[in-house]
Amino acid sequence: MKGQIFILGLAALIGLSACQNAPSSGLDAQTERKIDALIDQMTLAEKIGQTNQLSSFGTADAMAGVISGGGVGSILNEVNPEVINQMQRIAVEESRLGIPILFARDVIHGFRTIFPIPLGLAATFNPELVEQGGRIAAVEATASGVRWTFSPMLDISRDARWGRIAESSGEDTYLNKVMGAALVRGYQGQGAGDPTCMAACAKHFIGYGAAEGGRDYNSTYIPERQLRNVYTPPFEAAVEAGAMTLMTSFNDNDGIPATGNRFLIEELLHNEWGFDGMVVTDWNSAGEMIAHGFAKDGKEAAEKSINAGVDMDMMSHNYSLHLEELIEEGKVSEERLDEAVRSILRLKFQLGLFENPYIEAEKAREVCYTEEHLEAAYRSALESAVLLQNEKQTLPLDASKMRTLLVTGPLADAPYEQLGTWAFDGEPAHTVTPLKALKEQYGDRVKILYEPVMSFSRERVSQAALDRLTARAKGCDAVVVFGGEEAILSGEAHCLADLNLQGSQSELIAAARRSGKPVVTVILAGRPLTVKRDLKHTDALLYAFHPGTMGGPALADLLFGKAAPSGKLPATFPVTVGQIPMHYNHNMTGRPANGTEVLLEDIAIGAGQTSLGCTSYMLDAGFYPLYPFGYGLSYTTFEYGAVQLDKQSYTTGEVIRASCVVRNTGSRTATEVVQLYVRDLVGSITRPVKELKAFRRVEIPAGEEMKVEFELPVSELAFWNIDLKKVVEPGDFQLWIAPHSAAGEAAAFAVTE
Ligand code: GLC
Repeated sequence: MKGQIFILGLAALIGLSACQNAPSSGLDAQTERKIDALIDQMTLAEKIGQTNQLSSFGTADAMAGVISGGGVGSILNEVNPEVINQMQRIAVEESRLGIPILFARDVIHGFRTIFPIPLGLAATFNPELVEQGGRIAAVEATASGVRWTFSPMLDISRDARWGRIAESSGEDTYLNKVMGAALVRGYQGQGAGDPTCMAACAKHFIGYGAAEGGRDYNSTYIPERQLRNVYTPPFEAAVEAGAMTLMTSFNDNDGIPATGNRFLIEELLHNEWGFDGMVVTDWNSAGEMIAHGFAKDGKEAAEKSINAGVDMDMMSHNYSLHLEELIEEGKVSEERLDEAVRSILRLKFQLGLFENPYIEAEKAREVCYTEEHLEAAYRSALESAVLLQNEKQTLPLDASKMRTLLVTGPLADAPYEQLGTWAFDGEPAHTVTPLKALKEQYGDRVKILYEPVMSFSRERVSQAALDRLTARAKGCDAVVVFGGEEAILSGEAHCLADLNLQGSQSELIAAARRSGKPVVTVILAGRPLTVKRDLKHTDALLYAFHPGTMGGPALADLLFGKAAPSGKLPATFPVTVGQIPMHYNHNMTGRPANGTEVLLEDIAIGAGQTSLGCTSYMLDAGFYPLYPFGYGLSYTTFEYGAVQLDKQSYTTGEVIRASCVVRNTGSRTATEVVQLYVRDLVGSITRPVKELKAFRRVEIPAGEEMKVEFELPVSELAFWNIDLKKVVEPGDFQLWIAPHSAAGEAAAFAVTE
């Protein structure tokens, strides 16, 4: 075949399987002895002080007392390097034992240089790029004194109503595993001894994304088997990758708040996975066990939390208020306290804080916004954008054939909103917006007109304003509408019951359509939105999950074809919010949809009762999503050949070698994310209709083809079965190599004993 290139696929042998023995803390025996000696010198109050984490009061003076008295072990939310040095000097030079403070911050998708929100990073299906972004965030943050980030967030998110889907890597367990491990590696760099090592914190342990009704902080009901099959693998992978810390989640699962759940921390995390790092609560999640009705007061909350295995108390103050009494009463052992303190001191030694507690504050900003950092943020924004519709090949726009482009919409020039949620330390002044980029990069060839019409995403505007847009568009060659969400409409505590575009955005897209000119809609949002009603008014739809500092240049280059979109959806896009929760890796059920579904508009008036033969779907929305997990178009087309397997049956210790010839049948070179899915047809429990097991980004020149090969150990088919044992069950399987989760022809294979 012309131009056939062989690619040895990404072996799933990269060891993301369950960790049997997590990496140790990497400290030598001498350091361990130092820790023992230090603990021996510490008073009870000093030990308790190390377990206390406080949010910065803003100045060193304000915190001088609690620091010099050894009453705090970690401070979060201080990012002024001078203030950090001042606080550290008090700890090291004025407290009795001179134990340094560990400074922490939510560095979630960049520190100063802001990358796309994690949901967008997941859409790149490019773990190497995500790792690079994590490394850049660590270099920028550690230069300012931040040595611990509360990231990666590994909550499996199947519900777009939940605002924190923005911070997640979406609905798929494998994608969360890969992206979480990549961020851990990026943040921690060379690990112990690396001054740019920023301790990772795998969070929120566990199940937080399954909040009932998609309402933040709500209860979850995840049985242990599903917990182990769906929710724990990303945390296992993070621990395997060497994550130094974990954070407990706010939710009560099956009635037990994670912060008081001994099974999760002692049994699963420490005993089964061999994790020897440190566990911190979420913000006041210990104290919130009182509201949960799981603790009668702060004292019982502290007792339940530390006895469950939590080492550090973020901002509930209950450890510092009650541990001394609890130990005197024998409700908490001093050995347990020593364990907690040991995990905290180990972390500080691993980060080199005892040897080098201070930073060169005057140099902190030199490492921020460098060309390399901005280029990585640009590439991340480029690869995170997902092309969802492209009627009449409207995109890419051709600058050589266009005189005037009209730009409109509330997200065209919104430097703060474009950064997305959890971008505390990003600076909007550094944001390059789409409007700015279009003018700077293409303004010499195309006249860029700007008529925002809306100044923020929730704004309702008059029909007159919309009509003016229509009239102005008639004099242009095309219209690009930049819509989506303000940053505050997603993220923690910001959940939505309606996922349609807010304000007059849909009317704005329709107004553009009435001009008769080509319409392109670009959405910058923190979650999947229900955009079905907008599709008829736009020729092309490009989805950019809040793309960060360099979102503008990336989107401009995608719009004018300097680059082709390669992003794929990390979460299912529902037709309507009523379909949620909705995810591709669902169970078959006993009545799977089969295409015979009768929709509302097809039901006769006075129709008789029907149920026999009916299937699982919604009368007013059908069964299928608007766009499935893994979906994304390109500026070219790809054709997938039949899946080839090296054998028809495998034993559990073997490796499945699967391949597929992918051909670029279009006219331009482009990158495709080739995805490998598996289905276990019959199990001791019902199994998902599909599960992503590997993927590979491949660039294929126009007109050429590539044989993409995967190596999948049969052991990767293991799951927690009816006996709660993790096994590969013999039987029949199907395997797809496809462009997304709803495409492709399956190849069959069997697993024998
Ligand atoms: C928040 C979040 C958590 C974050 C912590 C510190 O409430 O739940 O993800 O890391 O507090 O800001």
